[in-house]
Amino acid sequence: MTELPPARIAPSLLSADFARLGEEVTQVVAAGADWIHFDVMDNHFVPNLTMGPMVCAALRPHTQAPIDVHLMVEPVDALVPAFAKAGANIISFHPEASRHVDRTLALIRDHGCQAGLVFNPATPLDWMDHVLQRLDLVLLMSVNPGFGGQSFIPHTLAKLHEARARIDRWQEQGGQAIALEVDGGVKTDNIAAIRAAGADAFVAGSAIFGQPDYARVIAGLRQGIAQGDQQRQASGN
Ligand code: DX5
Ligand code: ZN
Repeated sequence: MTELPPARIAPSLLSADFARLGEEVTQVVAAGADWIHFDVMDNHFVPNLTMGPMVCAALRPHTQAPIDVHLMVEPVDALVPAFAKAGANIISFHPEASRHVDRTLALIRDHGCQAGLVFNPATPLDWMDHVLQRLDLVLLMSVNPGFGGQSFIPHTLAKLHEARARIDRWQEQGGQAIALEVDGGVKTDNIAAIRAAGADAFVAGSAIFGQPDYARVIAGLRQGIAQGDQQRQASGN
């Protein structure tokens, strides 16, 4: 059984109050968030429009927490230097949105950021096979991207097991660490199963920002994660 890396909780600003984003960031980090998940939508790759590098740059002075930029845009490459300059720490993108996935991953690292690849519910994990050495993060979408507040797609659990196995195999062969993040419909009542399936980073938007007490929700999420660890141990996974 492999022990999972410590869990990171990444609240998605998509469900925050857009009129008070700076305060929202400060409050959610004070409440125990590890990363800030920053959803970038272009009304082209996904049917919604959110925020760009200027908003990221404006938020940067409000926190020391890593900013985890999730690009749902097509094309990808021009936004990479812009977000690196805006203070992003992690930049991930969808392989379908880039003509040259290997080049885009290299571009992200060349700009001093960690690089991630995002898998839509129907996107096969095979996209990671030939670029493992360029990855710092794999992000599995557990909803179709574009909106907050959707329900977790249960098949993601099987896909998570498979992604965990691929990452573990890579690391056993001496490969670098690769985080495994899940995004969409993550709540206090399903996070144990998601952890047990092998995730180590958890995006949660409406679960956190929809509630009056962020610290309480984050504590509840961590409790679920601890239960997931126990389930893994019990099942010998
Ligand atoms: C969806 C976004 C998610 C979204 C998650 O396209 O990538 O990050 O904010 O929101 P919840 O947690 O509400 O499903
Ligand atoms: Zn996201």
